[in-house]
Amino acid sequence: MKTILMQFDTDASPSTFDRVVAVDAGADELFSYGGISPENVTGLVHGAIFTRGPKDLKHTAIFIGGSHVSAGEALLKQVVDTFFGPMRVSVMMDSNGSNTTAAAAVLAAKKHLSLDGLSALVLGGTGPVGHRVAQILASQGSTVRVASRTKDRAEQTVAAIRTAIPKAQVVPVATGTEAELLAAASGVSLIVAAGAAGVELLSEATWRTLTDLCVLIDLNAVPPLGLGGVQVMDKGVERQGIFCYGALGVGGTKMKVHKAAIAKLFESNDQVLDTAAIYAIAETLG
Ligand SMILES: NC(=O)c1ccc[n+]([C@@H]2O[C@H](COP(=O)([O-])OP(=O)(O)OC[C@H]3O[C@@H](n4cnc5c(N)ncnc54)[C@H](OP(=O)(O)O)[C@@H]3O)[C@@H](O)[C@H]2O)c1
Repeated sequence: MKTILMQFDTDASPSTFDRVVAVDAGADELFSYGGISPENVTGLVHGAIFTRGPKDLKHTAIFIGGSHVSAGEALLKQVVDTFFGPMRVSVMMDSNGSNTTAAAAVLAAKKHLSLDGLSALVLGGTGPVGHRVAQILASQGSTVRVASRTKDRAEQTVAAIRTAIPKAQVVPVATGTEAELLAAASGVSLIVAAGAAGVELLSEATWRTLTDLCVLIDLNAVPPLGLGGVQVMDKGVERQGIFCYGALGVGGTKMKVHKAAIAKLFESNDQVLDTAAIYAIAETLG
């Protein structure tokens, strides 16, 4: 039986990036829909669950994407709420690449550091990607400083992470001034820069003063890059004894995680591939 991936995109035009990955991940047929919201998705979900018999539903799956992560989360909730009993298909949410990118970043850190007990700083920690990097690290036992230019925003993200993971060791930190940035970065072994594209968050001169630092990961591919002195193609390149990763260095792993997650959707009809589940898949890739 052919596999069918239904792509529900919250943007008007379904993402061509997500479409290419779906095909490369082996979906036989790809049905793409744009402008999807909780208000208009129910009929599409019914079309997915009422067509094939329960034992064949694993050959149909749903991918939720789009550039707004909160819209994707609301859509995921509505899709899952529409399922009942055995009438369900597996579903993956990766709006703006947030879950797969965060999983790939954490996987890079794990090559060099034990995550349990690790002290980490996530710059730009309030954005969709940084939030998820912090959440995955916290789920693995790391103590995570979640940074924002304003402490209020960091506190909101920390609260959301604690809702998902009640035992999370997450601390909101402000990095609006150079002094705050230095205090936030002092004593950590890992820094992940997940700030907006084209914004440097930490200079090379500053990170070179950090004596406990082991790994630097930058997810911004648009110059100026997020971490001064870290090159976009870096993939475990050692600079002054620190293992460095740039956005394209992490991007290859992100693509592998994305494809593996799509392939996994067709193993059964009851999976919900959210942040935690996508990281679990990433871990199997080593
Ligand atoms: N490599 C990949 O495969 C891949 C995939 C997806 C995304 N990305 C990249 O990952 C990064 C994070 O993505 P995202 O969507 O989470 O980012 P985002 O929402 O655009 O920005 C993340 C955070 O950056 C901070 N920020 C925004 N403008 C800033 C400025 N002018 N100066 C300092 N900080 C600023 C904001 O935090 P505060 O306002 O709280 O300070 C914001 O919450 C981006 O660079 C994106 O391009 C990479």
